[in-house]
Amino acid sequence: MTSNPWHNPLRNPHDSRLPRIAGPSGMVIFGVTGDLAYKKLLPAIYDLANRGLLSSAFILVGFGRRDWSNQDFVDYVKQAVQDGARTPFRENVWRQLASGMEFVVGGFDDDGFDCLAERISEVDEQRGTAGNWAYYLSIPPSFFSEVCHQLERTNMVNAQPGAWRRVIIEKPFGHNERSARELNEIVNQVFPEESVYRIDHYLGKETVQNILALRFANSIFEPIWNARHIDHVQITMAEDIGLGGRAGYYDGIGAARDVMQNHLLQLLALVAMEEPISFTPDALRAEKVKILQATSLATPLEHSTARGQYSAGWQGSQKVQGLREEDGFDPESTTETYAACTLEINSRRWAGVPFYLRTGKRLGRRVTEIALVFKHAPHQPFAKNGAQHGQNTVVIRVQPDEGVLMRFGSKVPGSGMEVRDVNMDFSYAEAFTEESPAAYERLILDALLDESSLFPTNKEVELSWSILDPMLEYWQHAEQPESYPAGSWGPASGDAMLARRGHAWRRP
Ligand code: BG6
Repeated sequence: MTSNPWHNPLRNPHDSRLPRIAGPSGMVIFGVTGDLAYKKLLPAIYDLANRGLLSSAFILVGFGRRDWSNQDFVDYVKQAVQDGARTPFRENVWRQLASGMEFVVGGFDDDGFDCLAERISEVDEQRGTAGNWAYYLSIPPSFFSEVCHQLERTNMVNAQPGAWRRVIIEKPFGHNERSARELNEIVNQVFPEESVYRIDHYLGKETVQNILALRFANSIFEPIWNARHIDHVQITMAEDIGLGGRAGYYDGIGAARDVMQNHLLQLLALVAMEEPISFTPDALRAEKVKILQATSLATPLEHSTARGQYSAGWQGSQKVQGLREEDGFDPESTTETYAACTLEINSRRWAGVPFYLRTGKRLGRRVTEIALVFKHAPHQPFAKNGAQHGQNTVVIRVQPDEGVLMRFGSKVPGSGMEVRDVNMDFSYAEAFTEESPAAYERLILDALLDESSLFPTNKEVELSWSILDPMLEYWQHAEQPESYPAGSWGPASGDAMLARRGHAWRRP
């Protein structure tokens, strides 16, 4: 295994030619003037160029309605790079990248795509991109059909022999199983499944990939990674930010659709799945599909789910507004900003082990972690008056302070035999000097390299929706989300969901 920071552990570990560099290719971004492109995609493309991982023939084409010249586009990208890139700004890298930037003005109608098709074949010739193109759809799903249809009509889908065409798709991928299935059909009518790259940026995070290393590269964890030893699992994705400025996207979507259906269920799949026979995309994704097929909500839903909406409160020393006061939100909005649920996995490994998922905005602090809480020892020789110390816990800290923590009982120094819980803490930042690439760098590069392990398949996406659909339907007819003050750890119903089973959320 190389210690190269860019090494993708899901690529063939015996491949000594790493890191791989994307060959001559181009990318068209639809939705390039949106927030995601500005904050994540454009900086990630620059960071890849800066690390020497893009071909010098790389072309970036922006497509949109703004009446921009190429120079306007270059200026816009430069600003995005200077605001958001992870690596230092280097004039020579920038000049090379900027020399391959184009902006095509157009809407999703016939004219716009005719211009785009023409421009693509011209720049292909000029820059020598060899006909290899990725189309990045950073647009609402309601436009997928139109864009796919137009790409097909203008003959931009089929590559000449030896070249490739791929589509990269941002979430949200539907709003329930049925709509996801419809979107998949639309996309798959035009692009074969092996050319479709659905983004779940959590899979691009180094710590998420480390779940596989932790489980399958070591011998101490797997023997106890099951219902015989594990009492329950808690997966938390807490954010301290509110939703100011994102009403257009978020109102009506809510926390469960925004991050539980994708990021949290992907974390669950990686933690719970069996070891794949290899780390090829097919083998890995087959295991994720199997575990998602075996997963369902615990019942009754009024006990196994919880939702909330933040009201005004304090985030540290700052007073912040409630969701309904945020710009753009309906003052009567019933969109949940906190969602929690209890899942069960119907398999020999996990029978009887609840998996608790929770996510929320404006919670106590930003943290994403997976905590595996172990059963109490069958006999507690040091328990005083029947009082037990805490349960042993393995915590995979996805962010921030990336690392792995183990919590266990230890003797308190002194002549007595008192046992108290202590932490053993592995921190990425202390153990490695290399900085992790951003998730979007990894994923964009992988899509250009045809490395599809870190992209969920149509089946995974549909299964994830089918797991949550009963909860989303139940919420449609249930009471309003319970309010919780900004800066707290969510509504009382989220705590009650665990308390009913004798458990409590870890305070991260
Ligand atoms: C996105 C969600 O997928 O993930 C956002 O749409 C959320 O609502 C974001 O804030 C969190 O990503 P990260 O990488 O900061 O944890």
